[in-house]
Amino acid sequence: MKVGIIGSGGREHAICESLYNSNKIDKIYCFPGNAGTANISENVNINLENFEEIKNFIKDNKIELIVIGPEKPLVDGLVDYLQKFQIKVFGPNKTASQLEGSKIFTKQICQKYNIPTAKFGIFQNKEDASNYLKNSNYPIVVKADNLASGKGVYICENQKDALLAVDEIFNGKFGEAKNVLIEEFLKGEEMSFFTIHDGNTFKEFDTAQDHKRVLEGDNGKNTGGMGAYSPSRLINNKLKEKIINKIIKPTLKGLHELGTNFNGFLYAGLMIVENEPYLIEYNVRMGDPECQTILPKLKTDFIDILMACSDGKLNEIQIEWSKKKSLCIVVCSKGYPDVYEKNIEIQNLDKILKNSKEFLFHAGTVKKNNKIFSIGGRVFNFVSLSDDYKSARNQIISKLEKLNWPWSFYRKDIGHKVID
Ligand code: AMP
Ligand code: GLY
Repeated sequence: MKVGIIGSGGREHAICESLYNSNKIDKIYCFPGNAGTANISENVNINLENFEEIKNFIKDNKIELIVIGPEKPLVDGLVDYLQKFQIKVFGPNKTASQLEGSKIFTKQICQKYNIPTAKFGIFQNKEDASNYLKNSNYPIVVKADNLASGKGVYICENQKDALLAVDEIFNGKFGEAKNVLIEEFLKGEEMSFFTIHDGNTFKEFDTAQDHKRVLEGDNGKNTGGMGAYSPSRLINNKLKEKIINKIIKPTLKGLHELGTNFNGFLYAGLMIVENEPYLIEYNVRMGDPECQTILPKLKTDFIDILMACSDGKLNEIQIEWSKKKSLCIVVCSKGYPDVYEKNIEIQNLDKILKNSKEFLFHAGTVKKNNKIFSIGGRVFNFVSLSDDYKSARNQIISKLEKLNWPWSFYRKDIGHKVID
């Protein structure tokens, strides 16, 4: 069969490679893909906001299933649009995508269904927000309501910083703002929890822990993710049960009562405080680089899982995982997450020798005249499976040292909590 993947990051290359390994797949199209997907699929250069052109391409090429990687097309309603033309899509519709598209939407579901989350207030103007901040405890968290590519969250140590954050949000730094969300700072340990949904049922999709800060020791600015390891060290059966019963199931009930169901990946960003889970945020997609870290461990044919989801038959599928430990290091352009150079050639990237337990996933790369150039902040990912995290990490670092791409940097301490 023919499948299409929407997106161009490491996550989408990992999805592409998993599907490429299935003998049920004849052809893959990536919209728009990267230099890595170009080797195993056809990259299609269509603007992701042009739904009609995407739909026409899918129809003309008889693509049987579309998998949507990133949040923006989901929040913009690409699923609803394609389904109107009887196209099978893996991903949540526009209403369900509000779980990621609007933090206030999610907070309101939390409130209505008693889902554990940080205490919060929603304010429509600067004055009300400022009054509230005068009598608050610090640190406090100020958030823009809408999609902000992970940047609309301020952890504020004092009233002055919090007022500045409120100002920036209402002044439109993350697009037009009708509200600001202010919430209690939760002190605990962060964990991601992934589930996969077919609209009726859901299953767990393994666990992973990412490192969001740019510098070693988990310091410096927030990024999209500098690396990850799977499984997470925090998960245990009791905690899993709490997450499912106190957070996931009530959320699905909330969506159901709004007249919709969830289809696709649901990614709960949690804070674990004394073995109790609190919801920090939802994403309506797989994490990046968590997806790259988890998928190499998947033993079940990925297309069977995706098709079962689109046919509402996930309960008929057994999802099986390798018992190996997986670790992923993200290689970035020097300067990321601030200003960095683009269009720098990366020599020998495709010549790195890999064994069957090693995976190279491209992210911000393009291929021009058979050469590979960097075009993004996060450029590529190297994943290794091993019996222990330390040898997985050593393996990756020795490959990256050999590659020796001078315009890059990466964290050598990914997984430090499970290694050192
Ligand atoms: P979000 O985009 O909502 O996941 O927030 C980005 C990051 O800010 C999270 O990964 C946490 O590290 C941090 N964060 C968000 N909300 C809170 C909170 N209520 N308490 C503590 N840290 C938070
Ligand atoms: N790794 C964090 C994210 O995908 O949002």
